[in-house]
Amino acid sequence: MRVLVTGGAGYIGSVVAAQLHEQGHKVTVLDDLSTGHTDAVPHGVHFVKGSLRADASAVLADGIDAVLHFAAKSLVGESVADPAKYWSGNLGATLALLEAMRGCRVHKLVFSSTAAVYGEPERIPIAETDPTRPTSPYGASKLAIDATLTEFARLYGFAPVSLRYFNVAGAYRNAHGAWFGERHDPETHLIPNVLAAADRGEPVSIFGTDYPTPDGTCIRDYIHVTDLADAHLRALDACERGRHRVYNLGSQRGFSVREVIEVCRTVTGTDVTVSEVSRRAGDPAVLVASSARISADLGWRATRDLTGMAADAWHFTQVRGA
Ligand code: UFG
Repeated sequence: MRVLVTGGAGYIGSVVAAQLHEQGHKVTVLDDLSTGHTDAVPHGVHFVKGSLRADASAVLADGIDAVLHFAAKSLVGESVADPAKYWSGNLGATLALLEAMRGCRVHKLVFSSTAAVYGEPERIPIAETDPTRPTSPYGASKLAIDATLTEFARLYGFAPVSLRYFNVAGAYRNAHGAWFGERHDPETHLIPNVLAAADRGEPVSIFGTDYPTPDGTCIRDYIHVTDLADAHLRALDACERGRHRVYNLGSQRGFSVREVIEVCRTVTGTDVTVSEVSRRAGDPAVLVASSARISADLGWRATRDLTGMAADAWHFTQVRGA
């Protein structure tokens, strides 16, 4: 299949692009490099530096069968401070991509949605049918795209699949020994922050120790980026015209911030110290996914545990010299 990967110079996009390429698909990456890295684009993959608004049409007209859409702004805090950047960069840019797809009669799309569409959950684990009440413009912009995809399926025969990621972690090493992993600046995510703290011998901050959880810290559902990639490959095969499929991607198991730090201590052999600070605004106490729907429909389930995620992310940190 000829696949366009938007945001393929970023963390998750580059891992999926690498796996698609290895499976024999013809991959084109479109990325504006606003947050991605040229050297994250896998060897052998066609790379176009450009934007969804200006360049998607030309790339699609070149002959594309399906789009995997990762390109997005994804900082929750930034979205609260600068919502217009998220409505424009996420919803606006995606609308431009969808119109370009319509124009080129490309209907298959796998979209990176997020657990942030649910906001503060009423029950755990969270199912796709649960209320969606995002607490940030980031989550709201992704939810608006999900709603748009439902309309494009109904009106124009699009074949979209939305994958709502919970907490993605880990790194991927391909058959040639090349590593693909997380390199955000600023880095806000827990596991890379703990590993950087281990590497530098500095403390890691715990944001809030007074949550209504057994150890007082937030609980999240972590999934390995290669399990996530596997879900994208399955979703691509499941695209069906006129139907918008929506799936949570999680492991159905939660780990507290303290538990994650403990796993990272074991993996790195470093006694990472912590600094307990106040809560980060907008963090729900517990987010754990029900992945029953994708398991039933596509036969997908998370296969790699938290130790494997931390170990792979640690290898990536070491090879990058981060
Ligand atoms: N945390 C710390 N210290 C850090 C970083 C994070 O204590 O240095 C805590 C956070 O407060 C949170 C947990 O670790 O309780 C996980 O935080 P992450 O930033 O790693 O992940 P989030 O759960 O905040 O974010 C993830 C995705 C977002 C998505 C969000 C939905 O990365 O894209 O889930 O709530 F929007």
